[in-house]
Amino acid sequence: MSSSEKSDALLALLGDGARHSGAALASALGISRAAVWKRVERLRGSGHDIDARPSLGYRWNSPVEPLSAAAIQRHLRRYKGHEWPEIHVDAAVDSTNRVLRDRAPSGPTMLFAERQSAGRGRMGRVWQSPPGGLYGSLSWSFHDLPRGPVGLSILCGLEAALALRHLGAAGIAVKWPNDLMLGDAKLGGILIELWGEAAGPCRVVIGIGINWSALPEDAVADRRTTGLAQAFRGERPDRNAVAAALVDALVKACRACPDRLSERLAADWSSVDALAGRPVKVLVAGRERQGVAAGVDEDGGFRLRDGADVELFHSGEVSVRALP
Ligand code: BTN
Repeated sequence: MSSSEKSDALLALLGDGARHSGAALASALGISRAAVWKRVERLRGSGHDIDARPSLGYRWNSPVEPLSAAAIQRHLRRYKGHEWPEIHVDAAVDSTNRVLRDRAPSGPTMLFAERQSAGRGRMGRVWQSPPGGLYGSLSWSFHDLPRGPVGLSILCGLEAALALRHLGAAGIAVKWPNDLMLGDAKLGGILIELWGEAAGPCRVVIGIGINWSALPEDAVADRRTTGLAQAFRGERPDRNAVAAALVDALVKACRACPDRLSERLAADWSSVDALAGRPVKVLVAGRERQGVAAGVDEDGGFRLRDGADVELFHSGEVSVRALP
């Protein structure tokens, strides 16, 4: 067994939330008690809330249900009307976007990972990926995306928000372009990478990351974060059901692009728009503009109203902040 397989086996044993003695864990894993202790310390270091008592043993205080491709496929059966991508679940990768970029699968493929060591966010940011969150990427090919990936990325945010609401996470909204928000705290985000020509055949990898709980403040410099546990008001959602809902959401977004993009935005964007009517500032290439958020145009561009003027922003490198 590799080191990460041993950690996964240890988590599987602790996953019942009961207390286990060091001796019992050592014998189940075929390692020494000292090795169990070291491994638990490492898992605690990577964010697992494991209680360790010298005489009583170990208990994982908030075990999460592991992801499984079979369980996600089972949940997908409740959604109709698509052929599903191949579903894979890995224990740990550097970045699911990076893996799918290099693997370049020929058909639609969704890869989830329990952990990412080098998760990537928009605009070159790091995406913190502690255990429990959902980290997945969908590889999808298009005949063409004549207006580029921005509209697709907005539609992915919209469909993901609607899917989470449908599962019971009321109040999820989207901050343009595709931050999933609960109030002013970020729940998740989407990163799209594209190869080929946007005006011809191209392949995209759509990465979606959803926090399980708020990240420690120093992990995200200037933003409040929240997680699934809060979004479902303390009820622990079934992670495989949420993963399946996200697969369905991303597939829906891909199938609607490019032909039905404007129709979908016109129908539903206003119901998820976290910024509508709010004073905002837009940061793009060192420039700052202030105004009032006024929805999106038919391609998903951000509309900033300043008096009678409306300025449009389409680039994926634009950042929008609500003003107090
Ligand atoms: C953002 O900055 O808001 C986008 C975050 C996207 C994170 C996801 S997690 C799964 C996939 N793999 C990555 O490395 N990034 C995306």
